[in-house]
Amino acid sequence: MNRKKMYIKTIGCQMNVYDSDQMAQVLKHKNYESVGLYSNADLIIVNTCAIREKAVQKVYSFLGRLPPLKKKNTGLKVVVAGCVAQQQGEQLIKRFPQVDIVLGTHAINQLPDLLTRLENDPSPIVKIAFSEEIYETALSSIALTQKLKVSGFVTIMRGCDNYCTYCVVPYVRGREISRKPEFIIKEIQMMVRAGLKEITLLGQNVNSYGVKESLTSFPDLLAMVNDIKGLERIRFVTSHPKDLSDQLIESFGKLNKVCNHIHLPVQSGANHILKRMNRKYTREAYLEKIEKLRAVSQDIGITTDFIVGFPGETEQDFDDTIGLMETVQYDSVFAFEYSDRPEAPAAGFSDKIEPEIKHHRLQRLFKLQKEITRKNHQSLVGKTFSVLIEGASKNQLKNISPSSTVELSGRTSENRIVNFSGAHDWGIDIDSLKGQTVDVEIVKAFSNSLFGVLSKYPVEYFKPEGSHSHVA
Ligand code: 5AD
Ligand code: SF4
Repeated sequence: MNRKKMYIKTIGCQMNVYDSDQMAQVLKHKNYESVGLYSNADLIIVNTCAIREKAVQKVYSFLGRLPPLKKKNTGLKVVVAGCVAQQQGEQLIKRFPQVDIVLGTHAINQLPDLLTRLENDPSPIVKIAFSEEIYETALSSIALTQKLKVSGFVTIMRGCDNYCTYCVVPYVRGREISRKPEFIIKEIQMMVRAGLKEITLLGQNVNSYGVKESLTSFPDLLAMVNDIKGLERIRFVTSHPKDLSDQLIESFGKLNKVCNHIHLPVQSGANHILKRMNRKYTREAYLEKIEKLRAVSQDIGITTDFIVGFPGETEQDFDDTIGLMETVQYDSVFAFEYSDRPEAPAAGFSDKIEPEIKHHRLQRLFKLQKEITRKNHQSLVGKTFSVLIEGASKNQLKNISPSSTVELSGRTSENRIVNFSGAHDWGIDIDSLKGQTVDVEIVKAFSNSLFGVLSKYPVEYFKPEGSHSHVA
C-alpha cells in the first residue's frame, strides 16, 4: 500500500521538538512517511509556540500559505498542534478554514484516532480540554526513529504552576504534572539501545519534578538515570532558580554523567522587576546559587534567559541586569524583548516600555555578552576537552573546509560547540564517527564556537577497519 506523506513543522522549544518526534513515530506506524517539502504532503502538522507574539505570527503566516495546496490536493489534512492551538481553539478554524484539526497541548496522543475520524467525517475537530493525567505515548515505537541520533530529549513533566507574570505557559500547557520515573527510565533505556549517548530531560521547571505527586525527587531521578548502562551524558532544562536545591547542586559533583552545564534563567538583575515578574527570588539569592554551583564545579558552564523592557524597567534596573551579567560571566545568554501575552497579567501592567528602548537595551545586552563570550572562549585556547561527536561540522557540510581534512563537530560537557579537524581524510563515513567521545585541544576561539584538533593519535579512537592513516 502506498504510504501517505507527512510534513511536520515545529516552532518553539525543545518540548515541541519532543512532541513532534512522538507524533512522527506514532504516525509512522499508521502508514505515514516524512517528507522534506510540505508542498508534497498529504498531512501537514504545525506544532506551535505562543511564548512571544513573533512565534504566533510565524504560525499564522505559515497557515496563510496552505489554501492553494488544499485546492491542488483535496485530500490534504492540516493539523495545528501545541500552544497556539490550545490558546486559540475554535478561533483558529474560523480564521483559517484550511485547518482540519486543532490539537491542544493535552491531546497530542489522540492524533492518530482523530485522523481516522476525519476520514469518515470531514468536519473540523477542536480538542483543547485539559486533562488531570499525564499521557504516555507508544514507547515501543521510539527506538525506530531515534536511530542515528547522538542525543535526544525526554519530557519528564508537563505544564507549569509558577505563573511568572509575563508568561503564557501556565495558561496553554496547564498545571504541572510529572511522568512516573519508571516510564522515563524505560524510555531512556530504549533510546540508549537505539544508540543514543546523551539525553536531555525536559520540563518547564525540572527542579520541582515529582514534588506534587510525591514521586522521586529530581536529584534522585538524576541518580537513577545516571545508572543507565550505555548512557554517557545527562543534561536537563529548565531549572527555576527558586527551586534549585543544594542536593541538586551537589549532583554536579556526585553524578559522573551529569554534564557540567546549567541553564538557569534569571530574567532580570533588578529586585523590583523580579518581584513584578513573580519570580520568587532576589538578585542576591540567585547570585548565592551561582556561587554554590561554582564551589561544586569551578568551571561549570552557566547560561541564562533575560527579558528586557519588562513593564516598569528603568535605566537603573537595566543597569542592574548588565551588572549581574558582568558578575556572573555567562557562557551564553538567550535574551528577548518583553512581549505582551494577552492571558498573562503583565499585559495589564502600567509603565510599558517603548519598542525603541527595548530594542536598544537588547542590543546593549548582546554587545556585552559578545565580549564576555569572546574573552571566555579565548581563555580556553590550549585546554583539552572531552567532545561528544555529533557529526560533520557546518563547514564540512557546506564543503568549505580544506579537502584533505574531515571537519567534525561536537559539544563539550559544558555545552560549548567545538569544531575540529585531525581526522585526516581516511575515506570513512562521517556517520560512523557520530556518538564517539574524543579529547580535543582548543586551538582557536570564535564568537559562537571553538576550533580544535584531536589531541591524541586519532586511530586510537576510531580504528577504521581497512583504512590507512597518513599519520605514521
Ligand atoms: N516576552 C518575552 N520573553 C518571554 N519569555 C517568556 N515569556 C516572555 C514574554 N512574554 C522568555 C523568558 C523565558 C524564555 C523561554 O522566553 O526569558 O525564560
Ligand atoms: Fe513561564 Fe515562569 Fe513557568 Fe517558566 S517558570 S514556564 S517562565 S511561568
